Amino acid sequence: MTTQTATTTGVSIEPCRDAAQLREYIDTHWRKGHILARDQRMFEFQYQTPWVDRSVFPQGISVLGAYQGDRLLGFLGSIVAPYPRPQSYWLALWHVLPELKGGGQGGKLLSAMQEIAVGKDGRGGAEGGGWIGTFGAGPEALPVYLKRGYACRAVRRWIYTPALANEQASLPRSMPTNRAETDAPADWLTYRYANHPLFEYETRNQSVFRSETNPWGRVTHCVRLMGDWQGDVAETFDREALLARAQGVPYLMDAWSFDTPGPGWTLAGDDVPSVFHPPQPRGNLIYAVGRPFVPTNVQKGECDQDRPN
Ligand SMILES: CC(C)(COP(=O)(O)OP(=O)(O)OC[C@H]1O[C@@H](n2cnc3c(N)ncnc32)[C@H](O)[C@@H]1OP(=O)(O)O)[C@@H](O)C(=O)NCCC(=O)NCCS
Repeated sequence: MTTQTATTTGVSIEPCRDAAQLREYIDTHWRKGHILARDQRMFEFQYQTPWVDRSVFPQGISVLGAYQGDRLLGFLGSIVAPYPRPQSYWLALWHVLPELKGGGQGGKLLSAMQEIAVGKDGRGGAEGGGWIGTFGAGPEALPVYLKRGYACRAVRRWIYTPALANEQASLPRSMPTNRAETDAPADWLTYRYANHPLFEYETRNQSVFRSETNPWGRVTHCVRLMGDWQGDVAETFDREALLARAQGVPYLMDAWSFDTPGPGWTLAGDDVPSVFHPPQPRGNLIYAVGRPFVPTNVQKGECDQDRPN
């Protein structure tokens, strides 16, 4: 831990200058042994995507830092992706030194990132402009975004039960995207899922799954449910449930979504673990926020939600 005390004199908000310094900050101030601190590939995967504009972030790291001389006093990270607008900033990790909390530096970081993403006026037109937002804001962070004009929507966790799929067969399966949105393009899907540095995903048609055995049992995370996913969900469920039975462990399949993903899905109960490393029921409700809009669909594969800890 640093023994220096911090004041806000001479603090400037600038693009991240040095990955090693930022990773050390994350390790010291966010969490010891955090994945972005201990794994360079994950750091690069998150903050150095091919969509980062180097004329804005000269090091190719889409993070803003609060600097006082050479000292890093705080940062706001973003994952630059080509959706829901061709240049979009999904906010991921925001922190200032504890002694500076409430002193305005966090707000300055957010304003500066917002200006990069959607311009000074922050409007973002229907036909162009960028996007800024996040999936993963807790209820305590919501007022901060609401006051700044972000649209906001609750994302809930859903559990699949095959027996219900027939009963609910008439439910719509996926929502059409609104006019202002770009669907995630193929090169993003390859980057995000096929070339993930640590996780192995299974792509079936337009949907993506990740199954794991953890201390709770076997779990399939539906990180992306798009197109006509019903057969792929049913087959993946059957295969994985069999595997779990052979391993003698419980099985569940989950998804995060604004509305029900469609036939077979019901809201997760409070007692079901939502975090598996180690298993903990940490709630089945989290918020997505965005400017100038919230995307039509938000799923577990968005932002940094399906990430090793
Ligand atoms: C979140 C954080 C980066 C904000 O930085 P900060 O310098 O304290 O923020 P500011 O003083 O500029 O305040 C920005 C806004 O956030 C609000 N805010 C600050 N900390 C808050 C908190 N813990 N809970 C709720 N709101 C908070 C302020 O009221 C202010 O809102 P307003 O401008 O509408 O009045 C900082 O509090 C922090 O490091 N927190 C610990 C890590 C964390 O929780 N990160 C967010 C989740 S990724």
